[in-house]
Amino acid sequence: MNSIEIKNLKFGYEDGLILDNINLMVEKGDYIGIVGSNGSGKSTLIKLILGLLPVKTGSITRTETNVGYVPQVGLSVKGDFPATVLEVVMLNLYGSIGLFKRAKQKHYKMAEEALETVGMIEYKDRMIGKLSGGQQQRVMIAKSLVNNPDILILDEPIAGIDSESEKNLYQLLYRLNKDNGLTILMVTHSLSGVRKDMNKIYEIKDKGIKLIQAEKQSEEGSYDGDAVTI
Ligand SMILES: Nc1ncnc2c1ncn2[C@@H]1O[C@H](COP(=O)(O)OP(=O)(O)O)[C@@H](O)[C@H]1O
Ligand SMILES: [Mg+2]
Repeated sequence: MNSIEIKNLKFGYEDGLILDNINLMVEKGDYIGIVGSNGSGKSTLIKLILGLLPVKTGSITRTETNVGYVPQVGLSVKGDFPATVLEVVMLNLYGSIGLFKRAKQKHYKMAEEALETVGMIEYKDRMIGKLSGGQQQRVMIAKSLVNNPDILILDEPIAGIDSESEKNLYQLLYRLNKDNGLTILMVTHSLSGVRKDMNKIYEIKDKGIKLIQAEKQSEEGSYDGDAVTI
């Protein structure tokens, strides 16, 4: 089953095209990496997929409506940001809690489960701004997971985190895809961000997108931990 199908998409902001004739299919259970240099249009493509920018030419069909999104920024939470880790995750539950209503036990439980999944439960009462970039990144992923999305979209999740956190992040994404069956689409400017355990790797270049690798290179059932060599 397809989660997202992009057909003959063209997009530009004011003048000229940023993306030209983009075709991309995301299938249920995919773990897709898209690599491209800075300014190549990766964030633009994600915003189009999310419906944050209007599609003018071509089409984007989204079968799954429950999309988790981890935006590019989000690592810059300042030390005095007045929210705990649990509160940050709960921000994404206000749709189901209801505005001005009090969170119920089940909502706390959902947020705690999401923090459990990313290995951050013991930090739930800490102030978000006091955590490292890598830890904040995991909390942002928990926040996007709290609504049980069918697909998780991450924009440059490794920007600004140390190499140990980067490794932990890849392991987490691998597990979410493999064990939880979560469809994942991640964009990165870094070649080290496209991994052997991804089943499709695309490159955005010269306004177009092309598949540069299909099928997993790593063995089924084991986390490989290596970047691909292209
Ligand atoms: N809101 C905007 N208005 C006009 N131009 C934009 C806007 N956002 C991005 N751009 C331009 O579109 C191009 C692609 O940007 P972006 O999608 O952010 O690239 P990437 O995420 O790959 O770094 C860049 O040239 C950027 O300057
Ligand atoms: Mg970007």
